[in-house]
Amino acid sequence: MQDNVFVFDHPLIQHKVSLLRDENTSTKEFRELVSEIAMLMAYEVTRDLPMKEVTIKTPVAEANVKMLAGKQLAIVPILRAGLGMVDGMVELIPNVRVGHIGLYRDPVTVEPVEYYCKLPEDIAEREVILLDPMLATGGSASAAITFLKKRGIKNIKFMCLIAAPEGISRVTTDHPDVKIFCAAKDEKLNDHSYIIPGLGDAGDRLFGTN
Ligand code: PRP
Ligand code: URA
Repeated sequence: MQDNVFVFDHPLIQHKVSLLRDENTSTKEFRELVSEIAMLMAYEVTRDLPMKEVTIKTPVAEANVKMLAGKQLAIVPILRAGLGMVDGMVELIPNVRVGHIGLYRDPVTVEPVEYYCKLPEDIAEREVILLDPMLATGGSASAAITFLKKRGIKNIKFMCLIAAPEGISRVTTDHPDVKIFCAAKDEKLNDHSYIIPGLGDAGDRLFGTN
């Protein structure tokens, strides 16, 4: 395993990922699971957020305590499927800024095509967690990271649910500075660049489009 790839093997996460993979899981359950897993992962992905010391008064004494420092974070889902991970993260980090990047994989070339981008104005001052449930060939994640870097962002993490070895290689080669956090590392891609065993098409299962 590469140094900057982290697979979350927590039992709660693994259990929920197994439910997610099941073809009998309904759209409603699928949405809930994606959100819940994102929330559980967010806890660990934000472990190194900068803190500052502040003095407050409790009802009985003054106390020097730690709080999150400065402009910390933005999350950027890759549309569409990354949207499913936003609510879970916002629940844990209510003030987080949210940008959006629209990419889809061309069904023939499987190359990413950009169709939308809206980011917070001060994005370059923030750490960015890029969200997408699936890391398959890595084309979409790598293109999105390149795009964020062009906007001046220096500190980027990529958080996904299921990663294929091919996608991990692509992102770690193109962007060795970017840490990858995933809930499961799967076996391989099939001839259509779908992850095996994976969970199928994440966007379609989230939004019930197929
Ligand atoms: C899926 C997924 C990723 C991409 C991963 O999106 O959500 O963005 O494929 O594949 P890659 O690693 O080979 O680039 P898709 O293109 O199906 O679009 P959607 O989210 O709108 O369904
Ligand atoms: N995109 C998906 O939604 N699923 C895959 O397995 C690969 C790419």
